[in-house]
Amino acid sequence: MKTTTVANQKGGVGKTTLEIHLALLAAEQGKRVLVVDLDEGDLSQFFDAIEDDDETPYLMSSQLFSDEHEGRVPRQVAPNVWLIEADVPLLDVDDMDLSVVHNLKGALKRFENDFDLCMIDTPPNLQRRMVAALVASDCVVAPFNISKFTLSRMPKLMTTIETVQDAFNPALNFLGFLPNMVNSRSPDEIDALPGLREGYGDSMFAEQIIYRPCINKSLASGNPVWVKANGSSQRVAGREMKQACNAILSKVWAA
Ligand SMILES: Nc1ncnc2c1ncn2[C@@H]1O[C@H](COP(=O)(O)OP(=O)(O)OP(=O)(O)O)[C@@H](O)[C@H]1O
Ligand SMILES: [Mg+2]
Repeated sequence: MKTTTVANQKGGVGKTTLEIHLALLAAEQGKRVLVVDLDEGDLSQFFDAIEDDDETPYLMSSQLFSDEHEGRVPRQVAPNVWLIEADVPLLDVDDMDLSVVHNLKGALKRFENDFDLCMIDTPPNLQRRMVAALVASDCVVAPFNISKFTLSRMPKLMTTIETVQDAFNPALNFLGFLPNMVNSRSPDEIDALPGLREGYGDSMFAEQIIYRPCINKSLASGNPVWVKANGSSQRVAGREMKQACNAILSKVWAA
């Protein structure tokens, strides 16, 4: 099982959007995917809720940080996709002793032979949950948008990753920054990309995802953007998203 975290210390840059598309594309390609929501439930809400009469002891994210995960199971939410969903006690993890950052890795170990890919979605702040995800991961990918505030936080993410590599997880691979929500009508944004790519080199993907409202609409109706394409803009968005996700997944499998 390859474990991959989607992270950025900036909110609203498309972490959950990318996470969902990566998981669903890998699942379409025949991989068994375990999705872990360490944020506040956006990712969990994309999938159908647990049915009222379903009494299966499903595994919740907070339990990955305690001994309570034994005997509990991830919930299948789509073909080839299983979810460990966010619950309210998950928020308490950020107030626990720093040693809690090791628990997630230990808890996920039991799934090593059950899944090909484990995708972890993280909150935008550097607290226990995000560090735990990086400690448990083989790879990390960081979507970003071209705004002054996001760009100024990118070096902070690099420092965080280096600190985790040095202190806890030397095998962690930074797959790169992925430009997302690029405004194709903004000359400033389009002009900024070549300079960013030159500056970050191999740490930035050659692919990018343009801002398109159909991405948001598709997610709201429970689909990745390439499903039920309605019009040429959505077809282009679907192709672009697949290209970006395939570029990321090929780095994951090679890691
Ligand atoms: N390329 C895009 N085009 C249009 N809308 C997008 C695009 N990427 C993301 N969005 C939308 O932008 C919003 C924020 O995205 P998302 O929730 O994935 O960000 P996030 O980084 O996970 O945020 P948070 O830090 O709050 O968890 C969502 O409504 C999402 O559907
Ligand atoms: Mg999110």
